[in-house]
Amino acid sequence: MVASIHGQYDARRALSSDQPVAVGVEFADLFDIEDIQRIQDDFSAATGVASIIVEPDGTPITRQSNFCRLCSEIIRGTEQGRANCMKSDAVIGNSDESGPRIQTCLSGGLIDGGASISVGGKHVANWLIGQVRVGDHDEARMLAYAREIGADPEEFRVALAEVPVMPAERFERIARMLFSFANQLSLIAYQNVQQAELITEQERVKSEIARLNGDLEQLAEQRGRDLETLNLTLTSVIDVVGQIVETRDPYTAGHQRRVAQLAYGIAEEMGLPDAEADEIRTAALIHDVGKISVPAEILSKPGALSAPEFEIIKDHAAAGFRIVSAAHMQGRIAELVHQHHERCDGSGYPRGLKHEELLVGSRVLMVADVVEAMASHRPYRPALGIEPALAEIEKWAGVRYESSVVEACARLFRERGFVFSEVEPIL
Ligand SMILES: [Fe+2]
Repeated sequence: MVASIHGQYDARRALSSDQPVAVGVEFADLFDIEDIQRIQDDFSAATGVASIIVEPDGTPITRQSNFCRLCSEIIRGTEQGRANCMKSDAVIGNSDESGPRIQTCLSGGLIDGGASISVGGKHVANWLIGQVRVGDHDEARMLAYAREIGADPEEFRVALAEVPVMPAERFERIARMLFSFANQLSLIAYQNVQQAELITEQERVKSEIARLNGDLEQLAEQRGRDLETLNLTLTSVIDVVGQIVETRDPYTAGHQRRVAQLAYGIAEEMGLPDAEADEIRTAALIHDVGKISVPAEILSKPGALSAPEFEIIKDHAAAGFRIVSAAHMQGRIAELVHQHHERCDGSGYPRGLKHEELLVGSRVLMVADVVEAMASHRPYRPALGIEPALAEIEKWAGVRYESSVVEACARLFRERGFVFSEVEPIL
């Protein structure tokens, strides 16, 4: 005889979530078994029914609560009886989301009920109750069962008389309560699983971010090393370009490198930031690069230049700007090259810019250029020496040249003992 209850249970509450959970999740992974044991013991004590939680195949997970002697000792005391009990427990707990199952035990013939516990669609356990008599039993059939499993019929009969009797309706109500409770438990378990997965995912993301940060730091270090290499390469290229220009203009051999020495010294003497001093030195090394567009016979012509020839020479500042701009050099190097023949009073070329329109570096570069040129030999005159060169820039201090630059340059030679270093042609 199999009794069934067709109550209106909300199937959505039966934790039939479509969300899958991790493969291999077990009941013991989701709950503290001892906590569940206490709940199960209290449930049995309050309702008067026996109770146990088993695996889907009937293997016990919790210990027996309130089991009657007939089931725990007489029937389960025999091998056949125990096997039949497990088989019955597996059947009664078969996943059913519509409500609790109530049936006659396939082993002892008492009334049993059960609710399945599923997590994320996976059936993980059955919560079973029962071992009660709800009315008259076919005692002759039950005694025949005792003989069938090898139990003593007399002991069986005495133990059967100890089994609690309760109205069928009361047992059904207990089974419904169990069903609701099991569903609630399943829901909590599912939320636990989701939370655990969320935490795992957060940990994964955290470690991924840490890994990416590590990669980023390595990339930044590599980039720093690449930039150093690039700067070294660039410096070599600038040196070579500067010397190509000087090769075409043998009278000014080493001019750019000496201007670079002096301009850097003045920048340091003025206390300009290191990066700016480096930029001025780089610009100085190639400030005459535009002369590459000036015919060699004009560059090397001894004596005075004609007006048209001078116009061609003057174009080298703008030509240099175009060349350096096309090379996409960083910072203000192209503009420094463009401005190196300007003067603070607007008397320079090619644009006649005035003091406030000029870069600080250009004001340094023009002084270094003039001093080096005057101090050195030129096609049209012999070397004048340092003192006449300093006298020339001091004469025009505050007019053509910025006073602070002139003062720094004079201090450099007269007080710091600055001398041009020997420059060796590499080409
Ligand atoms: Fe120049």
